[in-house]
Amino acid sequence: MSDRLHAPLRHPNRRGFLALGAGALLNGPLFASDEIVLGDIAARRRLLFGASIAEEALTNPAYGALYARQARIVTTDWALKFPILRPSAEIWNFGPADRLLAFARQNRLLFRGHTLIWNEGSPDWLKALSARETARVFDEHIERVAARYAGRVHSWDVVNEPFWHDHGAPGGFRRGPWFDALGPAYVERAFRRAAAVDRSATLVLNEAHAEHDDPVGRAIRKSLLRLVDTLLDAGVSLQAVGLQSHLRPGLPRNGAAFVDFLHRLAARKLDIYLTELDVDDGPFPDPIAERDAKVAQTYVDYLREVLAVPAIRMIVLWQLSDRYSWYRDPAIMRAMGRTRPPRPLPFDADLRPKAAVAALAAALEHHPI
Ligand code: XIL
Repeated sequence: MSDRLHAPLRHPNRRGFLALGAGALLNGPLFASDEIVLGDIAARRRLLFGASIAEEALTNPAYGALYARQARIVTTDWALKFPILRPSAEIWNFGPADRLLAFARQNRLLFRGHTLIWNEGSPDWLKALSARETARVFDEHIERVAARYAGRVHSWDVVNEPFWHDHGAPGGFRRGPWFDALGPAYVERAFRRAAAVDRSATLVLNEAHAEHDDPVGRAIRKSLLRLVDTLLDAGVSLQAVGLQSHLRPGLPRNGAAFVDFLHRLAARKLDIYLTELDVDDGPFPDPIAERDAKVAQTYVDYLREVLAVPAIRMIVLWQLSDRYSWYRDPAIMRAMGRTRPPRPLPFDADLRPKAAVAALAAALEHHPI
């Protein structure tokens, strides 16, 4: 457990000033003196707290100030995904990630890279390659991207979402260009390539859905433990598992079974990061106050359960404000059959704190130091 995880406490307003700049501060939102600063509350419990971040944090100064004040670590939402970095075989588009890294460094925020290898969202040019060409692109991508940010990335989601049993592949692996070209061995290959070019970053295997006790979640938990053992037995440099924690109140949960799973990961000397925390408020009633209260309670119930496990070292929301949640994507709303603007996060579309802010603060206090 590196002590980089516990950056020194800083005065939140000072960081906010850095983000806003003097001019904006004169007529921008002033910070309430009794404001809850989640990053500082988490730090007092030896936890890193943050959120995923994208261009809006740079184009909307008030949103950038919210990150500077509330977060201690940020994860790239889009900027370091393959299709953004590699829109074509000839183009390497590092601009968005470089700008977010500069913002993070200016505001003394730690920086997470998401994600070097993911079998979802691949551009057509990659899908058209032969297996041999795909393997070459795979190695080149990891080596060039990880080397570019070496020493400036707290941790990498080296492989994202390795499993999707409905694809029917052996071992329940998620199908896609990398798996189809390299087989299950792509996971070990990715970690070995990343470790070879960045010896300072914590290397993370990131997965969705393990939090739920439906057949998918149970299968993923089992497969994830098996994959972790395969990697560790092979001597792969794997230090943490990321559990996305996109909480779906409409799906079954079994706290005891999930906490047992967390202890099994911890027994393998792995840190555990909650990497994409938010709450799907779709199943909750329309009235805003009632809906926000149920979202807050969902955060509290989950965190009080999992924070009893000391191996939990990080809590990262998937954005900070409802306005920029992935659940607001029209394609995702259609896919989920939603028409109501989602309210999954602790800050509303106007960046005002909701009931979940105080709830998260209370839940964070429960983490054993
Ligand atoms: C999401 C982005 O936030 C959205 O903007 C995009 O439309 C879809 O992908 N699990 C992951 C993230 O690991 O990379 C996904 O991010 C959300 C699910």
